[in-house]
Amino acid sequence: MAKVKKSWEKRLAGRPDSKMVEFVESLSVDKRLYKYDIAGSIAHSQMLAEQKLITQSEFKQIKRGLLEIEREITEGKFRFDKTYEDIHMAIEAALVAKIGQAGKKLHTGRSRNDQVATDIRLWVRDEIEDLRSKITLLQEAFVKLAGKYVGNVMAGYTHLQRAWPVSIAAYLVSFVEQLERDFIRLGNCSELLNVSPLGSGAVAGSTLPIDRRSTARQLGFSGISRNSIDAVGDRDFCAEFIFDCAVIAAHLSRLAEDWIIYSSSEFGFVTIDDSLCTSSSMMPQKRNPDVLELIRAKSGGVYGSLMGILTILKGQPTGYNRDLQEDKIHVFSAADTVSQSLDMARAVVSHSNFNTKRISAGLDEGFLDATALAEYLVGKKAAFRDAHGIVGLIVAYCEKTKKKLGELGPDEFKKFSASIDKDVYKILGAEKVAGKYVTEGAAGTKEAKKQIAYWQRQLAKR
Ligand code: ARG
Repeated sequence: MAKVKKSWEKRLAGRPDSKMVEFVESLSVDKRLYKYDIAGSIAHSQMLAEQKLITQSEFKQIKRGLLEIEREITEGKFRFDKTYEDIHMAIEAALVAKIGQAGKKLHTGRSRNDQVATDIRLWVRDEIEDLRSKITLLQEAFVKLAGKYVGNVMAGYTHLQRAWPVSIAAYLVSFVEQLERDFIRLGNCSELLNVSPLGSGAVAGSTLPIDRRSTARQLGFSGISRNSIDAVGDRDFCAEFIFDCAVIAAHLSRLAEDWIIYSSSEFGFVTIDDSLCTSSSMMPQKRNPDVLELIRAKSGGVYGSLMGILTILKGQPTGYNRDLQEDKIHVFSAADTVSQSLDMARAVVSHSNFNTKRISAGLDEGFLDATALAEYLVGKKAAFRDAHGIVGLIVAYCEKTKKKLGELGPDEFKKFSASIDKDVYKILGAEKVAGKYVTEGAAGTKEAKKQIAYWQRQLAKR
């Protein structure tokens, strides 16, 4: 293919410095925008034809040429040449080489500034849909796993110390809630970004009668941006998108941390399927949760991207600046990492079991029923603060005598409070406590069942 000159080669003297070419190019990063760039260019050229700025026949040539280029790129037959700087110039040059004069009309009334702002919005909009589907799949995996353990109780932790007994199902559903906020946040981000900057030109629009509403409609935007100066420099949605990715990464890192601990010999709560574990080059006994460790670690990279984009945006003069080219590195990196991590988290959740025998064998450790005993005393008209003090003394006594609360005799209880009757044994023991929660949203067996049913209904609607 004959090499098409860039239009500004007329403006600048001599050959561009080869190190400069390497430094300013973004093609190696932004080539993955090609489908969006081509969709944007087809919409733009159709609008140009509607506005009689080009002829119908020119539009048809442009469209056919662009679709051919799209196919070539998809099939890996397109030769990417970094001297064209970015995907926008590379495609335009290929179009001119292919169809000649009509191709030179594509960029009428358009700048790469509004073009790239459009492309990246379209890319993020699609990526959000993808991530939302992956979130839903992970939520479904959690709900399915939760369904197996409604009646099983484990320790609920605060400060990683045993606090109250909880249904294992309620524990698992707690992740579904976190992911739901991620799902909603991404949806909000998509709504906010869905306005078309196309037609804003370099910074001020155009003196040509560009119909911005036509291109916006064709590209599925819900409206157009109101101010061209703002529109070409606005990457708020990139920062917001990466923030949403960062929160997902935070949630996944918490899951990872829990299950790394839970799968240790010390806990033995969770067994992750062999297919998702690795071993050691030296120690033959090892079954390592590397997938979870990497999910935990990769959150660091996503936070880095968030810092990266925010720093790029800070202090930029009004309008478009080449600084904005660096946005894509962070947007793509955050999206790729989170997308992969969601896949792997789902694989782990779908291929893990809770060792209910081991978990319930340890339930009588750690006085998980102590606060329930204090609440029992409240039921007998004690002030909570007094009840708290009494149970504190009882627990200290149990520790000294190496007994569980349920192992104390009625006379021993009476020494601490005359209000403790024989009915106390109905509430002692972690499993009994988990059946007694009455607050809405509590982590007990009854509420867990309700929450699972709720999520089954919600997720089936998606
Ligand atoms: N590659 C650039 C970017 O990603 C495209 C816009 C360049 N515009 C310009 N006038 N240099 O932001």
